[in-house]
Amino acid sequence: MAPQISPSILSADFSRLADDVAIIADAADWVHVDVMDNHFVPNLTLGLPVVEALLRTSALPLDCHLMIEDPDRWAPQYAEAGAGSVTIHAEAAKAPVRTLRAIRSAGARAGLGINPATPVEPYEDILGEIDMLLLMTVEPGFGGQKFLDVVLPKVRRARALIGDRPVWLQVDGGVSAETIERCAEAGADVFVAGSAVYGAEDPAEAVRKLRGQAEK
Ligand code: DX5
Ligand code: ZN
Repeated sequence: MAPQISPSILSADFSRLADDVAIIADAADWVHVDVMDNHFVPNLTLGLPVVEALLRTSALPLDCHLMIEDPDRWAPQYAEAGAGSVTIHAEAAKAPVRTLRAIRSAGARAGLGINPATPVEPYEDILGEIDMLLLMTVEPGFGGQKFLDVVLPKVRRARALIGDRPVWLQVDGGVSAETIERCAEAGADVFVAGSAVYGAEDPAEAVRKLRGQAEK
């Protein structure tokens, strides 16, 4: 699959979210929305009401990444609201198969996220239940952290496990001009970038450059 870029609005200006989404709309494929509850991760961001507001203004589909303790309860509501993709964390979900199915039946793509120290192999048997596997390349919770190279072997193993299943492989955390080529070479095809996009002078141009590098 051609690489896709999903800029994370965690690094955008929260006082002008709609504008910051609009400036990358022609360049990006998705808008990555980090939902954090201060329990699963030590940070608190936004929830369903803000996602609903973004859905009313965004020209791009929303890629909602739920870093929350009770995804089984909340994830289907993000899908029902109209998110294009909803990712739950393996470490948090108590009934992942049921929740992934609920996301799909509400019409969204179902994603499964795994943290840097969580192995991918235990999830091989449920790859048929998901549309995207998200591999965290930093510990979740904050933008602007340093890319964890130690996750790259897992990206390779995940790509091999996916085989010819129609499952996208997303990397999230520390993805930048310096690291995106390594991620692409290891087999990732959806790239989340927060600080590398919104920290740039021209965010849309930063997205185009990242795409060019991922295509190499
Ligand atoms: C971190 C979030 C990421 C974050 C990435 O927990 O899941 O999506 O916004 O930010 P950067 O690209 O700056 O590492
Ligand atoms: Zn994220």
